[in-house]
Amino acid sequence: AETGCLSIIVLGASGDLAKKKTFPALFHLYCQGFLPPNEVHIFGYKRTKISDDELRNRIRGYLLGERSSSPSEDVSEFLKLVKYVSGSYDSAEGFQLLDKEIAMHEISKSSQEVSSRRLFYLALPPSVYPSVCRMIRKYCMNESDLGGWTRVVVEKPFGKDLDSAELLSSQIGELFDEPQIYRIDHYLGKELVQNLLVLRFANRFFLPLWNRDNIDNVQIVFREDFGTEGRGGYFDEYGIIRDIIQNHLLQVFCLVAMEKPVSLKPEHIRDEKVKVLQSVLPIKDEEVVLGQYEGYRDDPTVPDYSNTPTFATVILRIHNERWEGVPFILKAGKALNSRKAEIRVQFKDVPGDIFKCEKQGRNEFVIRLQPSEAMYMKLTVKQPGLEMSTVQSELDLSYKQRYQGVTIPEAYERLILDTIRGDQQHFVRRDELKAAWEIFTPLLHRIDNGEMKPTPYQQGSRGPTEADELSAKASYVQTHGYIWALPPYR
Ligand code: BG6
Repeated sequence: AETGCLSIIVLGASGDLAKKKTFPALFHLYCQGFLPPNEVHIFGYKRTKISDDELRNRIRGYLLGERSSSPSEDVSEFLKLVKYVSGSYDSAEGFQLLDKEIAMHEISKSSQEVSSRRLFYLALPPSVYPSVCRMIRKYCMNESDLGGWTRVVVEKPFGKDLDSAELLSSQIGELFDEPQIYRIDHYLGKELVQNLLVLRFANRFFLPLWNRDNIDNVQIVFREDFGTEGRGGYFDEYGIIRDIIQNHLLQVFCLVAMEKPVSLKPEHIRDEKVKVLQSVLPIKDEEVVLGQYEGYRDDPTVPDYSNTPTFATVILRIHNERWEGVPFILKAGKALNSRKAEIRVQFKDVPGDIFKCEKQGRNEFVIRLQPSEAMYMKLTVKQPGLEMSTVQSELDLSYKQRYQGVTIPEAYERLILDTIRGDQQHFVRRDELKAAWEIFTPLLHRIDNGEMKPTPYQQGSRGPTEADELSAKASYVQTHGYIWALPPYR
């Protein structure tokens, strides 16, 4: 492993992302020994002038997150590593000062220069990415003769459509090489998303079945049981397709649908993702349902006439040998009746079925990304007892039960560790981003122009009924009389 000084600079230090995700992730990495205090310095940067202690106080309450296993001494020790620098996002002074502060720590106790690793985390709106990147490039690069690196982490929204995304990519691309740019999609850091490659390519169970001969349809679903809550201003500009589907669900889609990579090298994996994205056919209007929850426009930051969807079902079809004819139903919605994210791979009916009179549900392989990580296979078995009848049951791998005492790391924790280690496997490459925008841009433009309108739906409902009708038309069969229950702890 590399040693020497590691500086982590969080730009936009007290914004929502930094407070709720970046700093807690850094804290948990610190508690697990990945950020040794003698090597690591953390800097918060933002415009307003505050003291180190003020910044520490602003983030303190968020550090533990949902976990409470870390003692409070850890919090204080961690906060000692955090310093504050103020400056604007487009002026030389701020970044020169930042560079000075970073460099001050890049000297060993015996006054020797050490190698310098500089990680810039842009927890900022993308409108300032180009100027911030220019400033970093000009004033804050690692220049140590002893090695090291400079990396920048950026997060969506990467543009609003193909052209704006390409413009942003080329602006950043002029300043940094692709291996220095880490485009985060936090869904790639989720445990069960990371498991997809292993599941698909290390199990003989799945290899021969994972294709159009056996699989009838695939659903990738994201539901939230709350609305845009305080983020209406941001959300209304983007909508559910840009917020969730074009990035998070599409990344999951890639891992479900792509061919086997040559190896686990990041470039090999990302080559396959690009290939499957490029094989997606243009989206048809009749395979899209849009919704907007009632009351969405009451948010004072949302315009009264907003046409922005808060719900969408979009069917993707892949033109290749493995998947021709198999609908991939991507569905996402806010203010629905439940909160979960899952992948449902539904198999075809059994040919020559001899149990016809008691038709059971189809085989379905469900990967539940959250909450309560699990995967289960729905299958038909004999109803236990004297009668010869059938019933729907499941083979169930529920993580809480099977891996008791194991803490599943937060997505951001894992991804930040990857950036420190220089592993880009779980980050989005520039050509991948472009291919993703190519798929959705025509549809997005039609919505932006008001040519397609969302159907109103009630808060706390399943979304517009048209969405269920569309899934049924795409041959998804809902199982009735069967509900998967989270197994109890033993
Ligand atoms: C973010 C979206 O990227 O992901 C939010 O901007 C959404 O709208 C969030 O709530 C969901 O993330 P998670 O990890 O809670 O499923």
